[in-house]
Amino acid sequence: MINLRSLTKRYGTFTAVDSIDLEVPRGQLFGFLGPNGAGKTTTLRMIAGILKPTAGSISIAGVDLATDPIGAKMRLGFIPDRPFIYEKLTGAEFLRFVAGLYEQQGDEVEHRARELMALFDLEDWRDELVESYSHGMRQKLIISSAFVHRPEVIVVDEPMVGLDPKAARILKDLFREYTRRGHTIMMSTHTLEVAESLCDRVAIIAKGRIRAAGTIPELRETAEHGTEGLEQIFLRLTGENAARELVEVLDA
Ligand SMILES: Nc1ncnc2c1ncn2[C@@H]1O[C@H](COP(=O)(O)OP(=O)(O)O)[C@@H](O)[C@H]1O
Ligand SMILES: [Mg+2]
Repeated sequence: MINLRSLTKRYGTFTAVDSIDLEVPRGQLFGFLGPNGAGKTTTLRMIAGILKPTAGSISIAGVDLATDPIGAKMRLGFIPDRPFIYEKLTGAEFLRFVAGLYEQQGDEVEHRARELMALFDLEDWRDELVESYSHGMRQKLIISSAFVHRPEVIVVDEPMVGLDPKAARILKDLFREYTRRGHTIMMSTHTLEVAESLCDRVAIIAKGRIRAAGTIPELRETAEHGTEGLEQIFLRLTGENAARELVEVLDA
């Protein structure tokens, strides 16, 4: 459902994303795992069509993003790490607005919006302006907005950051249920714990390159053939030579 071929992004001479190949099949909850600065946000923003790749290609549900950008984006919901949200709309209006961007309206949208807001304990705030929402409430509204038009694919940048434990629990259940029904989710995270508790499969990215891919148990097993576990290796990814060390251990 998401297909990346030699995807590359350079800022001047600096290569933030370095020739990534990735395939996320339908129905998978896919984790994009890596330390800060690894290139996760850059990759996800390219998939969402917000940032133009320097090289390589992206297809969403078989639709090439470069040749049919509208077609590809219509199949996608994107939750950015720093979302923009219209302060002068109410929560319900915001969800209606987002659905409208995807040419959806009417009873079904209203019903979904209602269900999503209830799920995230926002129903009493439906008709309040977003400017009165707390940080956590805004985040829950943004998450709801990615689901309101029922896209085939959802791409989420660090969804767990800043959520309270209850909202995190709801989000996990929502992601699981959504993928169980045949939709596809790709989410980034910088913590192994989040990836492990949530994702069917992960790719580890460091310094713009994919270092390993598989299920967490598979990666763990491979790592255990070395001298340390996946946690230690992953933690060291924040260090200078971490990427090389991970490759040595995982690709051995
Ligand atoms: N607009 C930009 N101009 C220059 N460098 C950037 C820009 N955006 C991101 N970078 C750099 O690209 C690298 C990857 O960043 P990012 O994709 O945000 O990583 P992550 O989301 O994994 O933390 C970092 O080194 C970051 O400083
Ligand atoms: Mg990021």
